[in-house]
Amino acid sequence: MKAVVCYSEGSSYRLETADVPIPEISDNQVRIKVLYCSLNYPDLLIAQGRYQVTVNPPYIPGCESLGIITDLGQSVKNLNLGDKILHIGTHGGMADYQVLESSDVIVIEEDIPDLQVCALLYTYGTAYHALKDRAHIRAGESLVVLGASGGIGTASIEIGKLLGAKVLAVTSSPDKLEYCKKIGADSAILVSDDLKNDIKSWTNGKGADVIVDVLGAQYTEQAYRATAWQGRHLVVGFVAGQIPKIPTNISLLKGSSVVGVFYGRFRKEAPESYLSNVRQLLQWGSEDRINKHVPMIYGFADAELAFDNFISKSISGKQIIKIQEER
Ligand SMILES: NC(=O)c1ccc[n+]([C@@H]2O[C@H](COP(=O)([O-])OP(=O)(O)OC[C@H]3O[C@@H](n4cnc5c(N)ncnc54)[C@H](OP(=O)(O)O)[C@@H]3O)[C@@H](O)[C@H]2O)c1
Repeated sequence: MKAVVCYSEGSSYRLETADVPIPEISDNQVRIKVLYCSLNYPDLLIAQGRYQVTVNPPYIPGCESLGIITDLGQSVKNLNLGDKILHIGTHGGMADYQVLESSDVIVIEEDIPDLQVCALLYTYGTAYHALKDRAHIRAGESLVVLGASGGIGTASIEIGKLLGAKVLAVTSSPDKLEYCKKIGADSAILVSDDLKNDIKSWTNGKGADVIVDVLGAQYTEQAYRATAWQGRHLVVGFVAGQIPKIPTNISLLKGSSVVGVFYGRFRKEAPESYLSNVRQLLQWGSEDRINKHVPMIYGFADAELAFDNFISKSISGKQIIKIQEER
């Protein structure tokens, strides 16, 4: 079968298309014919050896994939040949076929276009879990989204609006302001060294009820200083580099909380809530209420270009590798 193979050493990597054997399945596994694989930040971190889970090179990248079940292990009872499924994991999606644990796949029962559904589980799942289960966001609250044009940022804007929040998008480049408003943000500003005052002034001095923080570094303390009374600052990622330290006197003075978000662990600790969230996202997707922005599609051989564009942040919205046709 055809596959993208990642060869990496330290933080440098290269991707090549290669012919590799079709993977074998065991009793509790299924084999899928992969249709699409969407690119996510962990794909990059894994290739650079910076993710919390190590994948030994050479390996097939691709942590979020959509496909059709072609083979069932002997012990698999709850799935059928031909089921269309979604999967998130660490790697393996950028290949004609992928073998998965049967307990790890989500069967798509809803009527949603492939290109919309294939990027729904990772970023939208994280954003929904963060806003609903961790921040307990309420309609009418103010929501500030940092790294707004990225995967988690886009999903947080769209889901925040669906949940009734008033949303400020904070982005790093002028050409992304329009994108953030187009996908639903009420206002969009550029990230600056005056982030605290920018947030304060957008909230008329009150401060933000909820902050989605994928940036870390100096932005975290600035944003946390601009939370409202009993505000919730969601720690999601650290793409700007440093893991920040936060003065706890801010929490005391504002009754505010720094709230951790770990989607992978939530999935293991609370599988029923995880599945219920996924079904809600699929429902919204089928109603065309989320993930409506047209994604950038790459051919199989352009995986490295997709990674390069992901690093340079030159594309807003999802980037998807088309693996093969359904029939
Ligand atoms: N905690 C969890 O459970 C969980 C789950 C999934 C992902 N994550 C993490 O969340 C983070 C974001 O993921 P993502 O999918 O949203 O990534 P992404 O698509 O690359 O988006 C990150 C965005 O942050 C902004 N940005 C990037 N580098 C920056 C810098 N140096 N300074 C300022 N802004 C910068 C850019 O948006 P703008 O140009 O609009 O500012 C960029 O699009 C990653 O660290 C990922 O590992 C965590």
